[in-house]
Amino acid sequence: MKDTLIIGATGQVGGALRKAMPDARVTKRPEVDIRDRAAVERACAGAQTVILAAALTAVDYCEDHPNEARAINVEGTRNVARVAPHLIYLSTEYVFDGEGGPYGEDDAPSPLSVYGRTKLEGELAAREAKQWTIVRTTVVFSYRPGSKNFLMQVLSGKPMRIPVDQISNPTLAENLAEAIVELAQRRLTGIWNLVGADRLDRYDFATRIAERFELDASQLTPVSTRELAQPAARPLNAGLKIDKARRELKTRLLTVDEALNMARRQWRLGARP
Ligand SMILES: NC(=O)c1ccc[n+]([C@@H]2O[C@H](COP(=O)([O-])OP(=O)(O)OC[C@H]3O[C@@H](n4cnc5c(N)ncnc54)[C@H](OP(=O)(O)O)[C@@H]3O)[C@@H](O)[C@H]2O)c1
Repeated sequence: MKDTLIIGATGQVGGALRKAMPDARVTKRPEVDIRDRAAVERACAGAQTVILAAALTAVDYCEDHPNEARAINVEGTRNVARVAPHLIYLSTEYVFDGEGGPYGEDDAPSPLSVYGRTKLEGELAAREAKQWTIVRTTVVFSYRPGSKNFLMQVLSGKPMRIPVDQISNPTLAENLAEAIVELAQRRLTGIWNLVGADRLDRYDFATRIAERFELDASQLTPVSTRELAQPAARPLNAGLKIDKARRELKTRLLTVDEALNMARRQWRLGARP
């Protein structure tokens, strides 16, 4: 995959992609900020496939900073789409409103938040590339010291209030990366849902982490999303269907238990990012 460029390689998904594709070129800030059209053009020169894993991902921060979110998630994506022969764009289940999940690739999006809206507009910008692949994912986790992903937050042992009504498919970053590598190698285009095989609520996920990592679960307090009062609205009855990936990909999307077993092995080995 020497003709592949990963943008956003310092992030959680980009980091897993980097490990899965050691031959790929990578860019990171400050060398390339995707808002800088000329820098993007220079970075993408010679690449056949560009995987865009860079985005403004903090959902509540986006709600309070809509201009910054649009500049990165929409205009930044457009800058990449203009010059990438084949763009693989990372998107999210947050393009849906969570009224009727799980969602298939062809269901009509209806985002609730600035993050979701800018990622959906980012999808439209991504479609301006000559060839495009949109990967929708959600609740990505991995054993990655220094990361604030959900697994690492639970492992920190700090008290957490966790919603019982946000239902989704937890997704191991390494498993997601493996599936994206397959899309890139086979040059598969269109929209793909790539998430873990199980759909469960966030509190249930947290208690399964505690069980698997032998933690005291008493620091995990179940609450409703309403009680949590997060600044940005969340899709509740969400999650994504993976029938297409099951049918067409060789990569198997893991169950929560399989994914947690793999994360636990990394933890025991003391994996570093
Ligand atoms: N994590 C999830 O649960 C999840 C769920 C659904 C979809 N996704 C999507 O998957 C993709 C990757 O997510 P992630 O969890 O890996 O995110 P992340 O850990 O927050 O990483 C984001 C990456 O984007 C880079 N970045 C941010 N603004 C940039 C800019 N203006 N120019 C260049 N690079 C910039 C960051 O660089 P710095 O290190 O310099 O900040 C970092 O490398 C995103 O498109 C996200 O929307 C993630």
